[in-house]
Amino acid sequence: MAKFLVKNAGPLHGEVTISGSKNSVLPIMAAALLSDDPCTILDVPALSDVEVMCDILESIGATIEKDYEAGKIVIDANHELRSETPAELGQRMRASILTMGPLLARDGRTRASLPGGCAIGARPIDLHLKGFEAMGAEIIFDEEAGTVTATTDGPLHGARIYLDYPSVGATENIMAAAVLAEGQTIMENVAQEPEIVDLANYLNKMGARVKGAGTDMIKIDGVKSLHGTEHNVIPDRIETGTFMVAAAITRGDVLVKNVVPDHVRPIIAKLIECGCQVEEAGDDLDELRVRGNIKELKGTDIKTLPYPGFPTDMQSQFMALLTTVHGSSTVIETVFENRYMHIGELNRMGAGIRTEDKSALIPGDVKLQGAQVVATDLRAGAALVLAGLAAEGETEIFEIRHIERGYAGLVEKLQGIGADIRRVD
Ligand code: EPU
Repeated sequence: MAKFLVKNAGPLHGEVTISGSKNSVLPIMAAALLSDDPCTILDVPALSDVEVMCDILESIGATIEKDYEAGKIVIDANHELRSETPAELGQRMRASILTMGPLLARDGRTRASLPGGCAIGARPIDLHLKGFEAMGAEIIFDEEAGTVTATTDGPLHGARIYLDYPSVGATENIMAAAVLAEGQTIMENVAQEPEIVDLANYLNKMGARVKGAGTDMIKIDGVKSLHGTEHNVIPDRIETGTFMVAAAITRGDVLVKNVVPDHVRPIIAKLIECGCQVEEAGDDLDELRVRGNIKELKGTDIKTLPYPGFPTDMQSQFMALLTTVHGSSTVIETVFENRYMHIGELNRMGAGIRTEDKSALIPGDVKLQGAQVVATDLRAGAALVLAGLAAEGETEIFEIRHIERGYAGLVEKLQGIGADIRRVD
């Protein structure tokens, strides 16, 4: 089984270039099912999650040309498509449910395996289904088979849909269904993440009429059909944040390139509160220089929230940093009910973190010690890599398949800025 071996090699220095966003590319790939023309997606990160989405789309009946080295895939859905993802593939990745909206809009029928309990919480899909139902779909659960089917006789119709929580996936799935619905759909209390804006831009390039993405209300005027397009995926803001924290936790000086500073404002703010220096750089202001070596770093408090609040996907990495700074910090996770599995692993490294309900108290002032640890999910694994960069001795990280779901070329990129990290099979 593959593992990472990480040793403290001192402060990281140099430049690193961020890849396209995992959480943008997955819904964009699924939305290619909405058109009979080929769609070209560029700046695609080479990730196992992207491969799984390719497998899912191929299993449904689309054909895909892949050139991961060039960061390009072309999806052609001009075929008769199956309405359901094989359970084995669906269960490998929750984002498989993002094919539901496009398939329902296009063929009037979609069936998905119910996403079971997952490592970071229960994660139901009630809000996705509520949206489909409001647009005229009938929803049928088959508890025994563990599937949910959404069907409609004619085209979906526009509706007014209020999301009880600004779910990223529900906003994406309902938006993708509504672009081909008859009439206008108004979605309220929607997610405002940059990935929502990227999907809306892509759909609009395909001929959709989506307005308001990036605010809490999206209006969609349905169109009869969508055409093919070419689209560059936005840079990954969580990979950006992870490398910013890598600079901070090693007290290094790293230039993080191909970033959108506006997408990482809470991370910039919290790093500055800790005592880091963060400067926007580059002719196009698409670089961030992060210095953790200007003064002694100190603790801060964090509460995860939907965008533009502090991202849940950066909570564990930031917690790793907070174990190493002067003074205590508190982290409150509000988005997922069970996203603290990294704490047990960080504590094996000497972090001394205590939890009480949704809060974690990080005492700080700790010299982390290398240990054998397990990546329980993607971001938990990233936190352990960061902790290993700052720990004394060697950190051995198992179950790295979780990390490889979401970080393209992590080992090479870290080595490029001076880290001592190896992948061992
Ligand atoms: N929720 C419901 N009902 C629903 C949908 C969501 O109760 O119908 C709840 C979830 O259980 C959770 C909260 O709402 O407690 C937020 O879930 P959301 O739907 O916003 O998340 P998601 O779409 O499942 C995406 C990202 C996650 C990221 C979250 C929050 C993708 C493929 N995944 O998940 O990314 O944490 O938004 O920002 O876009 C990651 O990259 O490591 C990752 C987990």
